[in-house]
Amino acid sequence: MKLHVVILAAGKGTRMKSALPKVLAPLAAKPLLWHVVETAKNLDAASINIVVGHGAEHVKKAFADEAINWYLQTEQNGTGHAVKQGIPDLPDEDVALVLYGDVPLIGQQTLTSLTDGLAKHDLAVLTAILDNPIGYGRILRDQKNKLSGIVEQKDANETQKAITEINTGILAANVGKLKQWLSALSTDNAQGEEYLTDIVSIAYQQNEHIFASQPQSIDEINGVNSKVELATIERRFQQIQAKQCLQQGLTIVDPSRFDLRGKLSFGQDCLIDINTIFNGNVTLGDNVIIHANCVLSDCEIDDNTVIHPNTVLESCQIGADANIGPFARIRPGTSLADETRIGNFVELKNTQLGTGSKVNHLSYVGDSQVGENTNIGAGVITCNYDGANKHKTVIGSNAFIGSNAQLVAPIKIEDGATIAAGSTITQKVPEKHLAVARSKQRNIADWNRPKKNK
Ligand code: UD1
Ligand code: CA
Repeated sequence: MKLHVVILAAGKGTRMKSALPKVLAPLAAKPLLWHVVETAKNLDAASINIVVGHGAEHVKKAFADEAINWYLQTEQNGTGHAVKQGIPDLPDEDVALVLYGDVPLIGQQTLTSLTDGLAKHDLAVLTAILDNPIGYGRILRDQKNKLSGIVEQKDANETQKAITEINTGILAANVGKLKQWLSALSTDNAQGEEYLTDIVSIAYQQNEHIFASQPQSIDEINGVNSKVELATIERRFQQIQAKQCLQQGLTIVDPSRFDLRGKLSFGQDCLIDINTIFNGNVTLGDNVIIHANCVLSDCEIDDNTVIHPNTVLESCQIGADANIGPFARIRPGTSLADETRIGNFVELKNTQLGTGSKVNHLSYVGDSQVGENTNIGAGVITCNYDGANKHKTVIGSNAFIGSNAQLVAPIKIEDGATIAAGSTITQKVPEKHLAVARSKQRNIADWNRPKKNK
């Protein structure tokens, strides 16, 4: 008995007020639907079948690399009609699990408990008890408390509206039976649609015993219909991730100001101050401190390194015992060895810095290779671009680049060389040489400054 996941994703999402199909709206920087697909993969589903309608091409394109069977629902004739589109190719003896592309937090354990019910039953429905059940389909039970049907809010009478057990929409069923029940659906209801929910009463009338289970957490069943709900789910998702990190020993100064949009790995005793965004894959060693307001994307930071406030790191590697920022920008292709020091308003791009080297203030260093214990003074610029091509700067170890020097690439500055402040360097500087390339100073005595015209 194999498990096939069917995800409904044809809806327009009018209330989102967006040109983007709703299931592509971002949760932690990934489409809502991506989260559901990941959950399906974690369940080891034999196939993932997605029913699309509004913006179908757009949605398919966003998942072009995934092994997904796509089905088109040209008209949104209801959830039952949608499931019909997504299951024709599934073997009758298998199990279909119906999920929703706009319900992204549904958990693996909740779904496993639901599908476990199919060991003894042919239909399993995920229900929940809500203080405020308004808008949801209500669960009907017979005198023996057995599930007997679902009535939609718009079709419910006053007694039924008072029921607090609701239909989450998620269900699992034997494929053969599901096909048969779906073929019996009608559109004789308040919305004139084929309701998936009607299979419950159809099955009940066939004397099926219907299994019901509840989610581990009520947050899991929340759908996204508006930007308000999207923002609420984003925060909830971030809180869940923050809690997982805290439980694994990460110190997070304020979990409500923590944003992880990808994967974060960390060693012991790392500390994350407020308002940092982690994108993609970020790896921290032991005792790494990230101060306030940083953005870290796809980077690796080794033990004891401190990232000072307002620093932006992208696709880079930083060694141990380094100090980066405040206000530093490290761009892709950069790797900084142990004990390096990058100060404020420094931009590094595609640059390798050896152990103990420093760029402390207001510099641009790009396409460069720098040795160990070299000091790059304030305001130094590597002129790596001639208007057409990029060129490389090579600086050895123990060099000293004076403040406000321009190094015009391609250029080589050898070990132990010193560059005088304010120099524009266009030729190789040999080992241990001093290069001075600036106009000589003249002092003119008794200089009268210009006066303002009356
Ligand atoms: C549905 C359930 C309701 C349940 C609620 C939970 C039915 C009839 N009702 O109601 O009992 O409490 O979900 O949120 O099933 N979709 C399609 N094609 C369609 C119609 C819908 O793909 O033709 C997709 C939508 O994109 C959405 C999902 O199915 O992702 C649910 O549809 P929606 O219209 O929101 O159902 P509800 O009225 O909320
Ligand atoms: Ca809905």
